[in-house]
Amino acid sequence: MSTLTFVTVNNENYQKVFDLSMTLSEEQKRCVASNERSLAQAYVNIDVAWPRAIYLNDFPIGFVMLSYDDEDIPEKDRPALYLWRFMIAKDYQAQGYGKMAMEMLIAKAREEGFKTFYTSCDMTGPMPYQFYIKYGFIDTGTVDEDEEVLKFVL
Ligand SMILES: CC(C)(COP(=O)(O)OP(=O)(O)OC[C@H]1O[C@@H](n2cnc3c(N)ncnc32)[C@H](O)[C@@H]1OP(=O)(O)O)[C@@H](O)C(=O)NCCC(=O)NCCS
Repeated sequence: MSTLTFVTVNNENYQKVFDLSMTLSEEQKRCVASNERSLAQAYVNIDVAWPRAIYLNDFPIGFVMLSYDDEDIPEKDRPALYLWRFMIAKDYQAQGYGKMAMEMLIAKAREEGFKTFYTSCDMTGPMPYQFYIKYGFIDTGTVDEDEEVLKFVL
């Protein structure tokens, strides 16, 4: 049985987590920062960032980073959790793992009492926009740093 878990990035697994970024196509690399860069950003945003490796059984296949900072989100949607980074390694894409990880993130956000779950995405190609819309995210019609802002009402 396939079990996904969120695992802290540590001294033992960080190189494997960084290497996952290298599996993405050039087009996909434009949609998400490298895991190495994301980890550096987590370090300088340590009060609000929640970076985790996505493990399939006992090995990493993806990476996620949430932000607990909702200052830029409209008051009516707060408290909000922000999906800042999300990726599944190339060989594991299109097998349902992204959707499974999203379900776990939404469950986490609900358990923690958030009202909405926000993200933003590159609009150069149909993905990852189609992934989020198919999942149930709503397009807010706003753009932030060239990315379309989407939200999921919890
Ligand atoms: C976006 C991403 C996380 C999706 O993960 P995934 O494991 O490939 O997605 P899943 O296999 O769980 O697919 C979930 C749904 O999206 C759809 N989907 C997946 N790839 C698709 C594609 N290339 N085109 C259209 N739909 C697609 C699937 O059909 C599925 O729908 P279904 O449940 O109705 O069958 C993954 O493609 C990825 O890491 N992309 C590169 C990085 C990126 O863009 N991250 C997002 C940053 S905002």
